[in-house]
Amino acid sequence: MNSSKLKNIIKNILINHKLSKNHASICAEAIINAELVGAPSHGLSRLKMYCDRIQKNLINPKSKIKIKKISQSISHIDANNSIGFVAADIAIKTAINNAKKTGIGLVAVKNSGHYGLSGYYAEQAVKKNLMVMIFTNAPPAVAPHGALKSLFGTNPICFGTPTGSKIPFILDTSISMINRGKIRVAARDGIKIPEGVALDKFGKPTTNAKKALEGVQLPIASFRGSGLAWMVDILSGVFTGGNHAGKVKDPFTDFSGPQNIGHLFFVMKPNLFVGNSYNKRIKENIKIIKKLPKIKGVKEILYPGQNKYKIYKKNLKREIVITKNIIEDLKKLGKF
Ligand SMILES: NC(=O)c1ccc[n+]([C@@H]2O[C@H](COP(=O)([O-])OP(=O)(O)OC[C@H]3O[C@@H](n4cnc5c(N)ncnc54)[C@H](O)[C@@H]3O)[C@@H](O)[C@H]2O)c1
Repeated sequence: MNSSKLKNIIKNILINHKLSKNHASICAEAIINAELVGAPSHGLSRLKMYCDRIQKNLINPKSKIKIKKISQSISHIDANNSIGFVAADIAIKTAINNAKKTGIGLVAVKNSGHYGLSGYYAEQAVKKNLMVMIFTNAPPAVAPHGALKSLFGTNPICFGTPTGSKIPFILDTSISMINRGKIRVAARDGIKIPEGVALDKFGKPTTNAKKALEGVQLPIASFRGSGLAWMVDILSGVFTGGNHAGKVKDPFTDFSGPQNIGHLFFVMKPNLFVGNSYNKRIKENIKIIKKLPKIKGVKEILYPGQNKYKIYKKNLKREIVITKNIIEDLKKLGKF
């Protein structure tokens, strides 16, 4: 289906779930963007979950988001259990404004929910010629190194910078071997997951997505990935006032309360230390790396974000494919 038609459908569904037109529009943009960058696990496949949580009073569609200004650079946002997209949209815009005034903008968010792709917000800063780092925690999926139980989320780490070209550098990566959304989609569609990404509940390696969801996801790079997940839990949970240490609720299965996810947005002017030469320096950096001799079969060394940009451009010209399961969801939500 055409992306603008689909965007309107999503918007109307969310308006019917009591979101304001503006907030519904912010959510619809983010959901469609996930589909267009090739991350359907963070797109339409979650719409019913958001609506279910609104109906169960676990997401507040009429949230009164409070922004507390701590200094010219620093703000603290209480999202009042708003849908994560809206809290994150306000937070990145606040961080951008703070950074434009003082060189750095640091914004912490508490009482938020799942906001989709970190890279979507990073792009907003990079488009304004700013550098950015974004952290969010997520429900338990990954066992800390040495532990038998999942506690860390797939806690993405995101870094973005202007590149002096129209394609931004955006590293946006889960700390798990595979993101949980992909496992959910595989479980739902009966597809196997790759080897080496998860263990079942008995600690045995599995390629069965359902068993992986009951078991433990593996972090990238063993104890190093576990350490990065822990860092993200501290920065986005302990530091912000959000839930942490495994207390973020799974939005699909845990209806015992709001998620109270924490996010951290850190935006910087790239000219802080090297003035206007940043542009020249980042271009040189990328050029040198791209010119390295390549492994057999590799045509081009890509920087993070380049692949997603290519997918986005290609998908813009195509219809968005809606799976049977999503059509069922949309029918249940009354708009198909
Ligand atoms: N909100 C949440 O709770 C939550 C949790 C986990 C993940 N996520 C989101 O899920 C998305 C997907 O995460 P993921 O870990 O599956 O990402 P991924 O594995 O698709 O990509 C990770 C990074 O590697 C880069 N990359 C991919 N192929 C490359 C190549 N050939 N050369 C160079 N760089 C390359 C990508 O541009 C990206 O920056 C992210 O946007 C993340 O923010 C959200």
